[in-house]
Amino acid sequence: MHDGLGQVTTLPKPRMERSDGYLKLLSFVVSNARKGEIMAIENYSEMVHLMPDTDAKIETVNQAKEECKHILLLEKLAARLDFDVDDTMVEPQWESIRASFHEAVRKKDLPACLIIQDLMVESLAIGLYKVFASAANEDHETTSTAAALLKDELEHLDIGVRRIQAEMRKDPDAVNDALLWAHNRVMPALFEMIHQSCDFLCDTKSLDCTMVEKPSAEIDLELLKITALEHYVAMLEKAAFDPKITNQLIAGMASYEAPGRANVGLDFLRKH
Ligand SMILES: [Fe+2]
Ligand SMILES: [Fe+2]
Repeated sequence: MHDGLGQVTTLPKPRMERSDGYLKLLSFVVSNARKGEIMAIENYSEMVHLMPDTDAKIETVNQAKEECKHILLLEKLAARLDFDVDDTMVEPQWESIRASFHEAVRKKDLPACLIIQDLMVESLAIGLYKVFASAANEDHETTSTAAALLKDELEHLDIGVRRIQAEMRKDPDAVNDALLWAHNRVMPALFEMIHQSCDFLCDTKSLDCTMVEKPSAEIDLELLKITALEHYVAMLEKAAFDPKITNQLIAGMASYEAPGRANVGLDFLRKH
């Protein structure tokens, strides 16, 4: 605008108004993301001694350090936007995923560890940060945090694919067996966690997430689930697992949808 003296001045950007419902939704998502990041530190740290050489051990410790940074970034976002990180919003399935990982460590099953943490959990993290980093999101503070985290998680997924390919060259049967075991243990829990998010919010926080006024229609828990599963499926294909096994697993995931529920967009799984 002009100030009357012929000078063009820019007005300071108004502070973005965030609805109470949206802040509650952010609180839920960030509390769970933070829980996932804490689990990632525990998983990576527990996996270090199984890594085959010194370079891989250093790389794994660095991944754990990056997850530490993610926790701090999420906490900073919560403080800046003034919403709570609330452990009562954290979903119980995290514990069962962590327990499955711990069991894989106890069995010294490195491929299963890589599959659970590097591939499955990272796919979920990518789905989550991608939805919040979308260009359509007008909540720029959240977008920039999500974009920074997304960049690291995409690298973690690539590291995972590379590691699995190396294990595959050594012992393909062991890796395919590990996939079957890890998939059946972890994917239903991971899926249930995202699938039931809306019900969880409704039941425990009286928040109808479909009615929340949000800075982008793309901020949607269903879309988050679909994006996470798409990354998981793409990764299964990229990591060169046995297609006979992956096709069967992918087709099976379509049945995770609760019977009687509206179709939640998993048709892409049925083409397998
Ligand atoms: Fe992370
Ligand atoms: Fe990660």
